[in-house]
Formats: sequence, structure tokens, C-alpha cells
Amino acid sequence: MLPVYLDNAATTRVRDEALAEMMPVLMQDFGNPSGVHSFSRAARHCLDTARSRVASALRCRPANILFTSGGTESDNLAIRSAVLSFPCRSGTVPQVITVRTEHHAVLNTLNAYAARGLISLRYLEPDRFGRVCPDEVRNAVTSETALVTVMAANNETGNLMPVSEIGRICRDAGVLFHTDAVQAFGHIPLDAESLCADFVSVSSHKIHGPKGAGALYCADPKRIRPLMFGGMQENGLRPGTENVPALAGFGKAAECAVSGLDAKMGAVRVLRDRLMESILEQTGCASLNTDPDRSLPNILNVTFRGVDGKALLLLMDMEGIAVSAGAACAAGSPEPSHVLLAMGLSRQDAYSSVRFSLSEFTTEEEIERVCSVLPDLLRRAAF
Ligand SMILES: Cc1ncc(COP(=O)(O)O)c(C=O)c1O
Repeated sequence: MLPVYLDNAATTRVRDEALAEMMPVLMQDFGNPSGVHSFSRAARHCLDTARSRVASALRCRPANILFTSGGTESDNLAIRSAVLSFPCRSGTVPQVITVRTEHHAVLNTLNAYAARGLISLRYLEPDRFGRVCPDEVRNAVTSETALVTVMAANNETGNLMPVSEIGRICRDAGVLFHTDAVQAFGHIPLDAESLCADFVSVSSHKIHGPKGAGALYCADPKRIRPLMFGGMQENGLRPGTENVPALAGFGKAAECAVSGLDAKMGAVRVLRDRLMESILEQTGCASLNTDPDRSLPNILNVTFRGVDGKALLLLMDMEGIAVSAGAACAAGSPEPSHVLLAMGLSRQDAYSSVRFSLSEFTTEEEIERVCSVLPDLLRRAAF
């Protein structure tokens, strides 16, 4: 039985080039990059190379890249920095504008600040694909707005947000803009500077790099308000001995991801669309939560009405096919996807939804196998 991994939005396998980059850092160039001897200098060189590669993938300068442990930390750091650096009038709290379809790394950070009375939250209304209209951002901004945070692409549906337009509106209004680009990075071309973003979060393990590495692009690193205190690593903005092996792997993965990006993602889109067409043709109960025309090339989210989503996932797993119901970090939750609910789906339909997420390593054979077994599995998973 051919195992098929279609859960790449949750995490990806480390690519060979990234692993090859990591091995010498684990075994030979293992020095502490803050030291002075040759081992340390070699490690520092690896770190500098990784930073240049991530910066080049995001089309920005290395000085604007702050290494973190991943997307969650980058989101936390961006939000904290924007909120704490905001010059608030006395008696007021900074406002943050966002959307209910954001990842929990953003939503739960904001909720924690709001619960302590440190910010007020304004949610924009998303459309049926979870997108916000840039004009809504323009109308929502006030003199108390410290930050607008809207993701580049949704992790459950792959739908793209109009982040360049939102960035431009924020820049014109003098308001900071953060975009969580964890899913978009390495899947569509991204240019941190022309996005007009002040902060951009990215993560290694979504692009065939190792886990535990990520970065925050900061247009102005002076705005950073550290989450931790300690040594002078990352200019004192992110203390703690750097995870050099993982960051080296991340740098290489970022370089590989953006090399030949259009051709690779064009091929992924063909496979994703083949899966989508097969689902729509073969099953009478499917409706798309992914807008095929304005989405990442690798994600497809489908509601199979009348089907028990959990049972379907288990049946697919028994066939060796890995897919998911939505965000991996919400997998333990009995609640249906907050993203699909915010898009207007009923709880029942949200429970009947499945996310297929492909990668550049997904093959036609794998997609054909999924297409061939799915109709029977759907019948067996019907309520
Ligand atoms: C959109 C988005 N933001 C943030 C994260 C968190 O990233 P990490 O797992 O690197 O902390 C994820 C991971 O699922 C994600 O999809």
C-alpha cells in the first residue's frame, strides 16, 4: 500500500538539502556562535549564511531578520512589540485589529493581552472564504490603533488575504501591520518590503526545514520588545544560545523553497486541482472552502456534507492516507474549526470538513490513489 502524506500544512518532512546542511553543524561546527575560537566562528558563519538565505527568500536585508523558534514565537513577538511600543494616551489602551480566521498563535496571544486589559480588540468581518475587505481595515483604524494583524494565507483553507492592499492602507494611516506568513512563505512569492508590513512571521517546518526554527521580519528592529531576557544573542532581542543546526537547515530549506518556485508550485496546483475536480465529479456532497482562484497552490479544504469528518480521517488513515480536519494544534479540541465557523459554516458542516495539503514532493500517483479510494470511504463515513 502506497502511504500518502497530504498533511503538509501541519508539517513537512525535512528535505535532503536541509538535512545535509544540518549534519556538519551538529557534528563539526558545533561551537557556540558567541565565542571567539574557530569552532565558534564556524558556527557564526553558518548562522550568518542562514540569515542571508532567509532574507533573500523574503527579499529583504539580513539585518531585518530576527531568528526565533518558529511561527508561534514570531507572532507573539510581533504583537508584543507593537503593543508595548505604542505611545498610548493616558486612560486609553491600544487597539488591535484582526480577523477571527487567524491562527491561534495570533488569536490566543491577543486574547491573553485583552484579558489583562492591555489592549482592546476589533474583529473585522470575513467573507465566505475568510477574507477581509481592505476598505474595512481603512474604516476600522483609529488614533488608538497600535496594530493590524492579518495573515497572508489561511492555514486551514489556503485562501489568500489581500495583504499588500492592507499593508498600504496601514502605512498610509501610520499604523503598524503584521502578517503571519507561515503558510504563504515558500509557496507563493513574498516580498517583505513591498508588502508594506512592519512584521512578517515565517516558520521552518512548513517548508521542509526542521522544527523549532523560524523568523520574524522586522522593518525596524528598534521596535522589538523581547519576550525573554538574557544574553546578547540576536542583538539582545532574542536571547539564548541560537539553535544553529535547525537555523542552518531552515536557511537551506528557504533557499530551496524559493528556487524555481513558480514551476514547482504550478505543478502542485495541477495536482491539487486534479484532486478537487475528482472530488467534485465523484461525490455529490462536496462543497469547497478553498477558493481555487485565490489560494495557495497546495491546500484544498472541502466540506463533505452528511459525512462524519473524524470517521473519514480514521478511514483514510487505515488506508495509509494522512489528511487532517484543520489546524494540527487544534486536533485535541472537541470544538469544530474556528476558521470554518468564522466563514459562516454550521457546526455540522465544519465537523464534515477535511483539509488536504500537498507539497512539492506529492506525486500524481499519490493523488490518483486518493481519488480512487475516496468515494468508498465517503460512503462508509456517512452519518
Ligand atoms: C498560519 C500559522 N501561523 C502560525 C503557526 C505556528 O507556527 P509554529 O508551528 O512554527 O510555531 C502555524 C502552524 O501551524 C500556522 O499555520
